[in-house]
Amino acid sequence: MTPQPTPADRFSFGLWTVGWTGNDPFGAPTRVALDPVEAVHRLADLGAYGITFHDDDLIPFGASHAERERILGRFSAALEQTGVQVPMLTTNLFSHPVFKDGGFTSNDRSVRRFALAKVLRNIDLAAELGAETFVMWGGREGSEYDGSKDLNAALNRMREGVDTAAAYIKDKGYGLRIAVEPKPNEPRGDILLPTVGHALAFIEQLEHGDIVGLNPETGHEQMAGLNYTHGLAQALWADKLFHIDLNGQRGIKYDQDLVFGHGDLASAFFTVDLLENGFPNGGPRYTGPRHFDFKPSRTEDYDGVWESARANMSMYLLLRERAQAFRADPDVQSALQEAGVFELGEPTLAAGENAADLLADRSAGSGFDAATAAQRGFGFVKLNQLAIDHLLGSR
Ligand code: GCO
Ligand code: MN
Ligand code: MN
Repeated sequence: MTPQPTPADRFSFGLWTVGWTGNDPFGAPTRVALDPVEAVHRLADLGAYGITFHDDDLIPFGASHAERERILGRFSAALEQTGVQVPMLTTNLFSHPVFKDGGFTSNDRSVRRFALAKVLRNIDLAAELGAETFVMWGGREGSEYDGSKDLNAALNRMREGVDTAAAYIKDKGYGLRIAVEPKPNEPRGDILLPTVGHALAFIEQLEHGDIVGLNPETGHEQMAGLNYTHGLAQALWADKLFHIDLNGQRGIKYDQDLVFGHGDLASAFFTVDLLENGFPNGGPRYTGPRHFDFKPSRTEDYDGVWESARANMSMYLLLRERAQAFRADPDVQSALQEAGVFELGEPTLAAGENAADLLADRSAGSGFDAATAAQRGFGFVKLNQLAIDHLLGSR
């Protein structure tokens, strides 16, 4: 029996997900536009906690102030009626042709100024709606030709944009944090800050990096051939996991944005294991919303759209049940012990021991029996089969 989601599970969806009308570079939309107010009610009915959006998803680019206020009024009323929250807001700096060479890092300075002002205005809206996180996905920040972008200048402009936004948040006293979302490519041939690692290194160079973290997306790390759970782990280790975009991806290809778990299912299991159970030796935990950034397949009608939204939450809840059973299983605990997973939690040096002490310790030098140590069987395959047994429900 699939557990039913409730707002307590803190599932949230991008308006641009269930609202995607199916248009792609090779075909016209297959669905009519979705009224954002209907999206709020439908997601509430499905048990979702929150809805997120780009400014332009709700308020058409270039809308008049009066139009903006009318739209916001309707939308806020729906939030009020349903109790749906807005945990995150983000800015569209990629759809309008003016952003064809990016927003913060366009070679055209007038476009950069327009983009930065658009972000600052959207930060005001995020604060007004009570959002906690402000995501920055630089989908158009990049290039197709190495000679077209001075990357030192581009990273300076990216830092200038993010630091200006962060300083604005601080000056206004908004309780917002910025979460940078890495992606290796698409729509640009190469996007700046392509992976979690690049983004973490970038944040270290900021003046206001204390309120800047990450919004890693499942498919984006996997598009780069990387392990999403490892990316989450390093972001957590750096105390920079501010938000997450969950979805499915089947290998290194275009960004599929499948339902969470409909790509690499075993990887999704361990992602949920980390998010719900934490590191085996304890450590930092992610406490934010479980946010889905997926696209209901172009093949689906609106029944299929809502079924897809429900599927994301069902997948997460089913995996959460199995990941909790996995860690509670005594056979798993002993397999973790045998594999040395808990031993890794023990510092290599003893308390108070320094390099000289270590070098003086024969057991770590000439007295170390490498041949015997090399014979150790870690039992990782047995441990993994236990995980798969729990994933398949055969334990
Ligand atoms: C993508 C990205 C976007 C961002 C969204 C929020 O590949 O299109 O994942 O969906 O997540 O723009 O910044
Ligand atoms: Mn994506
Ligand atoms: Mn995303």
